[in-house]
Amino acid sequence: MKKEKPTRQAVHEEPLAWIRQHVHEEYGIYFPESKIYSLKSKLQRRVRNLELEDVAEYARHLRDNPDEVPYFLDAITTNKTKFFREPKHWHFMEEELIPAWRGKNEIRIWSGACSSGEEPYTMAILLEEAHRNHSTYPRYRVLASDISEEVLRRGSRGIYHNRDLQPVKKYNSQFVSRYFDRDPQGNFQVNRDIRRKVYFRQFNLTFKSNPFSRKFDLIVLKNVLIYFDNEMIQNVIDNSTELLADNGHLIISHTESLHEIEHSLEKISPSIFQKR
Ligand SMILES: C[S@@+](CC[C@H](N)C(=O)[O-])C[C@H]1O[C@@H](n2cnc3c(N)ncnc32)[C@H](O)[C@@H]1O
Repeated sequence: MKKEKPTRQAVHEEPLAWIRQHVHEEYGIYFPESKIYSLKSKLQRRVRNLELEDVAEYARHLRDNPDEVPYFLDAITTNKTKFFREPKHWHFMEEELIPAWRGKNEIRIWSGACSSGEEPYTMAILLEEAHRNHSTYPRYRVLASDISEEVLRRGSRGIYHNRDLQPVKKYNSQFVSRYFDRDPQGNFQVNRDIRRKVYFRQFNLTFKSNPFSRKFDLIVLKNVLIYFDNEMIQNVIDNSTELLADNGHLIISHTESLHEIEHSLEKISPSIFQKR
């Protein structure tokens, strides 16, 4: 089903509609007309923090202050994530991808909506395991990108609370002691070896710019397509397909689908695709 586009509005006439159109055009994030009040309530806390009168004043503030953008994005998106989220994908990576990559010079992975880092670090941990088991296993780099600067800051620090590590322990009880260091506050930091191989960068999936010069063996775009309309998803998938190396894989969430999207990838499962 084709979603209707937010109509162009002037900021002073219909501030909320202007914000809706702005998030769609600039970030591909789509709020249907029926969710416009959900958008409003997400912004209320920011309105209060800035001691503004209302969302109308906030819309003008956003239009006139580029510095507001990161706060705005943090207010309207959900950054919910966790280590080893949707474990079937990580079993697939361990059992199918990691053995298949053995003959490569370097493995390049991109987590395109990495939030606070749990997803890219999950993949890095599995590749560290491959190194542990085979000393000649190829080196790897993980590019971790997101639109939100706040989550990227958290990701590059790599510090997590004990409760965040429960899914790590559940996946493999050895991984916490192998790949995390305890800090003086009782939190856990991803070890330095791993942090050196995971690069955090801001990137907007609208692909208005394309800073990538090399191709990826695996692209992970989980739990982000859900924010976009079909036109935006088509654009993200076209660009990502272009960025995949031959035989490279794309993984999306179990709750997302490329059902209505045209693409040339082979479907390995409903959420795993391969470029042939
Ligand atoms: C729910 S989190 C998903 C995190 C992780 N991929 C996972 O599955 O656990 C969605 C992330 O998408 C990011 N995001 C939303 N719109 C984006 C855009 N246009 N470009 C890049 N990232 C975006 C948000 O900032 C948020 O961190």
